[in-house]
Amino acid sequence: MTKPQASSMIFYLTIVCLLVGVSGAQKGPKSVQKWFRKLPHAKEKQTQLHFYFHDQVGGINPTVVAVAYANSTFGSPTMFGLVMVVDDQLTVGPDPSSKIVGRAQGIMNYASMQEMGMLMTINFVFTGGKYNGSTLSVVGYNPIQRKYREMAVVGGSGVFRLARGVATAETAAFDAKSGNAIVEYNVMVLHY
Ligand SMILES: *[C@@H]1O[C@H](CO)[C@@H](O)[C@H](O)[C@H]1NC(C)=O
Ligand SMILES: *[C@@H]1O[C@H](CO)[C@@H](O)[C@H](O)[C@H]1NC(C)=O
Repeated sequence: MTKPQASSMIFYLTIVCLLVGVSGAQKGPKSVQKWFRKLPHAKEKQTQLHFYFHDQVGGINPTVVAVAYANSTFGSPTMFGLVMVVDDQLTVGPDPSSKIVGRAQGIMNYASMQEMGMLMTINFVFTGGKYNGSTLSVVGYNPIQRKYREMAVVGGSGVFRLARGVATAETAAFDAKSGNAIVEYNVMVLHY
């Protein structure tokens, strides 16, 4: 699998963070109505995002917590039935101390009896630059032991209104002892 080049159309959020205030999402029902009326003449935009997702399972401040499971879950090789709520940091680089560009908030369920596969229902809530306050909603199947996973972007808000697209995930680092994981995401969306 070839990694996208920095020279490609990928918008690294670091760079975008320098553009604070340039075209922040307008807020309030009036401005949304205005945007909606102009929509038939609006041009569809294409945006690519790249960031790292940090699953902090252990430690004093876990960002992934188990909220429900079945009696059989921990006897299941695929953790079938486990439901977790997540509020993970998103950063520009794989280093957890690199610049934060948002958070991934939602529910992840181990929903497969065949492999470690999660139903992801996640919002990417951005805080960087012109994406500050905008969100993307992701729903998809995430078989975490496979190298490459692909999920659907089903919508968005702010600059990502009416978004649809694809989010790809690849595990960048996994610590079997703590369960902590760093996952690289490339997100490609069409929006207005
Ligand atoms: C789950 O296990 C507990 C304790 O062993 C038992 O009381 C309960 O009936 C079990 N529930 C189901 C749905 O099997
Ligand atoms: C993002 O928006 C919030 C709320 O409007 C604001 O407090 C914060 O300073 C903004 N952050 C950036 C990086 O623009």
